[in-house]
Amino acid sequence: MRNSNATFSDFGCYDAAAGAPPTRLDRHLTSNYNKKNLPFHLSSFCLTIWKFMNGQKERKAAIEYFIEKMPSLSTTTGKVLEICSRADTSPNELNRVVALDPVLTGQVLKLINSAYYSLVNKVTSLTRAITMLGMNTVKNMALSTAVIRAVAGAKKSQALPITKFWKHSLAVGVAAKLLATAREIPVNEREELFVAGLLHDLGKVPFGDEYIVALREARENQRSLVEVENEMLGMNHQEVGRLIADKWKLNEVITSGISHHHDGEIPSDKVALVALADVFVNIHEIGNAGNAFPPEEDLGRLLAALSMDIGGLRLLSEQLLAEIHRAEIFLQL
Ligand SMILES: [Fe+2]
Ligand SMILES: [Fe+2]
Repeated sequence: MRNSNATFSDFGCYDAAAGAPPTRLDRHLTSNYNKKNLPFHLSSFCLTIWKFMNGQKERKAAIEYFIEKMPSLSTTTGKVLEICSRADTSPNELNRVVALDPVLTGQVLKLINSAYYSLVNKVTSLTRAITMLGMNTVKNMALSTAVIRAVAGAKKSQALPITKFWKHSLAVGVAAKLLATAREIPVNEREELFVAGLLHDLGKVPFGDEYIVALREARENQRSLVEVENEMLGMNHQEVGRLIADKWKLNEVITSGISHHHDGEIPSDKVALVALADVFVNIHEIGNAGNAFPPEEDLGRLLAALSMDIGGLRLLSEQLLAEIHRAEIFLQL
């Protein structure tokens, strides 16, 4: 039964009568969980001082310069994207391009032979691996690894622990894809949602060490990270992410996921899926991208936008958590 008009407090909590233990989703839905009594804080005064001491204009220019200097995606990635965008492409054509890049070839074979696919016999032929994985998976793997490599090479801040950051990102990718499956989005579009989820917080990477102060403010005062970024840094990670997406000419779905996943007005169902996946992963504290306290109303708003109810999300929870765990293999590729 759909319950999209329900207010946040109407969403059912765990079945106490049945003795089921409360899940993280339940705790998130309990207002006491998110509205802890915070001690008196001088945060707004500190913020004012901080803004005086730190020029937002200079910071913005530094970030733009940093993005300008980021490497472009490799030629192989460009060719893979181009080949996969044609309707008449065969796995053989993709094979010819991937075979020119030994790192990508190794990753494709490693992925098909990983525990994720649990195959009995080892696959050693690249064409066979591409056929089995599907061209979309190979395309998105090429794109994700190229982005991760380019970003890792250019990363200048230690504010976010990179392993936890990618764990969060991967989990959002997996959750977005699973939610897309549950909503019966066509198979060939689901992989794209995986990439949109994987890259949704990309804009956090170029922030320098000053980001540590913003992350601390969001964490200690349980505030929305985007709000703190706007206030302290003069721009938020969605805007920075958009600059990167434009530089790399990422497609519309991925760019929109990166630049609108925290918007109050979500522009499309696909962005809402990425945003819901993000909230789900934050509630379950999988990895860490510095946004441990998504605004309480986000969950209800996103479920309503997707005509889903909390029961539907709860039913998917176990599968989502298992799938995220299984997908951790991608972090080792
Ligand atoms: Fe985000
Ligand atoms: Fe996120």
